[in-house]
Amino acid sequence: MLIKKSTRISSTEITPESVYRSRRDFIGKSAALIAGAGLLGRANAGLQPDDELTPEEIVTQYNNFYEFGTDKGDPVKHAGALTTDPWTVTVSGAANKTGEFAYEEVVKGLVAEERVYRFRCVEAWSMVVPWLGIPLVDILKQFEPTGSAKYVEFKTLYRPEEMPGQNSFFSSIDWPYTEGLRLDEAYHPLTIMAVGLYGKTLPNQNGAPWRLVVPWKYGFKSIKSIVSIRFTEQEPLNTWQQLQPSEYGFYANVNPAVAHPRWSQASERRLPSSLFNQNRRPTLPFNGYADEVASLYAGMDLSKFY
Ligand code: MTE
Repeated sequence: MLIKKSTRISSTEITPESVYRSRRDFIGKSAALIAGAGLLGRANAGLQPDDELTPEEIVTQYNNFYEFGTDKGDPVKHAGALTTDPWTVTVSGAANKTGEFAYEEVVKGLVAEERVYRFRCVEAWSMVVPWLGIPLVDILKQFEPTGSAKYVEFKTLYRPEEMPGQNSFFSSIDWPYTEGLRLDEAYHPLTIMAVGLYGKTLPNQNGAPWRLVVPWKYGFKSIKSIVSIRFTEQEPLNTWQQLQPSEYGFYANVNPAVAHPRWSQASERRLPSSLFNQNRRPTLPFNGYADEVASLYAGMDLSKFY
């Protein structure tokens, strides 16, 4: 297992008691899947001694989910209207098992683990989130990707009648929101498909019923409410790269040494914080996960592959 324990802090050390009082208050259709999560593996790799869990109300009310609007408060206001049951996933491309699958069918028998991860947005704010997630490798291998698969592309649901941001005249995004990973990144043990947070089923505004979490990359890689998984030979074109290639790339590894063209990435604002200089802390290479993931990029100039 590549999840290093050197900086590991047990989640009981950093979790306020009140937070987990409702840990087993699982609801919804994922209940069977995640009911045992509290008893299963916990990985807190990459956490620093002063990392504290970000309060649940911040994690679930300060969101980026442009399908529901561009304001941080829009997703919690509007995402309640999203129908997440039934949920179908289309699998295509270089794999032996392709087609349409019910979400329940895909996650059946897989185990969600609690993973407390640092989460760093490209906008230079950050959080610490207790996710419940299934290692992405366990999900992807079920579809038996073939030898020619080098990347995996994900797409979010396109349903403008329930996602008002997709109708917005002002939106320049070519919906659906799209992301991708190199297959070795996707198979890395830190990469999860989150199905819950704070011991509960994933709220709609955080990407129900499941969303990617790749803790060493900027948050925009962590695509929400996924309905399409495609195995490809070519590097997929992700939404933000398509919108502004000079500012956003495919890799999006957290890197304090490479500034965004419009702001520094050397430091970040740890939420809760309402002022620019409140709770600022230095940003770490690969968001603190360098020991686990830097080798994936050996020999690459990360100022070019940003
Ligand atoms: N996924 C979709 N489909 N649409 C989005 O707008 N925003 C991304 C990412 N995934 C986004 C998305 C960005 S920019 C960030 S920082 C994270 O979701 C925010 O996740 P959170 O709201 O759970 O903190």
